[in-house]
Amino acid sequence: MEEQLHIACTAIRQAGQRLMEMLGKAEISQKGATHNLVTQADLEAEKIITDLIRSEFPNHKLLLEEGQSTGGSTDEHLWIVDPLDATNNFAHGIPHFCVSIAYALNGEIQVGAVFDPTRNELFHATKGSGAFLNDQPMRVTSSTKLEECIVGTGFYYDRGAMMKKTLDSIHELFSRNIRGIRRMGSAAIDLSWVACGRFDAFFEYKLEPWDYAAGKLLIEEAGGRCTDRVGNPLEIDSRSVIVSNSHVHDLIFDAVKWSEGA
Ligand code: IPD
Ligand code: CA
Ligand code: CA
Repeated sequence: MEEQLHIACTAIRQAGQRLMEMLGKAEISQKGATHNLVTQADLEAEKIITDLIRSEFPNHKLLLEEGQSTGGSTDEHLWIVDPLDATNNFAHGIPHFCVSIAYALNGEIQVGAVFDPTRNELFHATKGSGAFLNDQPMRVTSSTKLEECIVGTGFYYDRGAMMKKTLDSIHELFSRNIRGIRRMGSAAIDLSWVACGRFDAFFEYKLEPWDYAAGKLLIEEAGGRCTDRVGNPLEIDSRSVIVSNSHVHDLIFDAVKWSEGA
């Protein structure tokens, strides 16, 4: 997987550099609801990434947030790309966003890479070979009690039942005495931060594969555990995400699980 890892890391660094150049300058438009934005930077970063992947691996398929996807989880070779995770942060000048790329072989994620250009932090993992932050091995936390846990979460664009359930789950976690909740605005960084031990756990009830494909491998290779909201293993097509350092997984899962409509 060395070649795929090299291309993923090159692509996210180049795209991240372009995002930094465009921060505060990119044209912003809406993708539907007023809170679902796309900027010129999302599109330019995606082009940098897809041009590179297409030139190196012309037969591989792409699952893209912005452009026309050419494949899905059942394809032999699939690249899953979020060119700018946390567009809302970016559009508001909040320096917390990233680029995320995963490569999957026959539906199994083999390479995951996330680049946070504002901190110059590159997280990467290859299946079976561990997870790294700026080339240093990273591990999940060793906390075993909810009182020791910082838990990240996110709100999907839904403002109905899913929002209510998210707020109820936050309330439930506090009533079980967790140390704190964070809503940073970039699911891919949230997952990377579980992998490197800044968060103990994270949950969000609706994400897209490009938000979590890379982060899932980072967490698993760093010793953590990933499921969906009903407790099944996290797959490319799962959509809902509950992840942790593994030690507190059952405790977190019990507080935030959601089987309604699943
Ligand atoms: C969003 C971010 C956010 C999460 C949303 C995602 P985008 O991605 O990851 O943290 O709460 O559900 O859609 O749209 O900025 O790439
Ligand atoms: Ca995005
Ligand atoms: Ca995203």
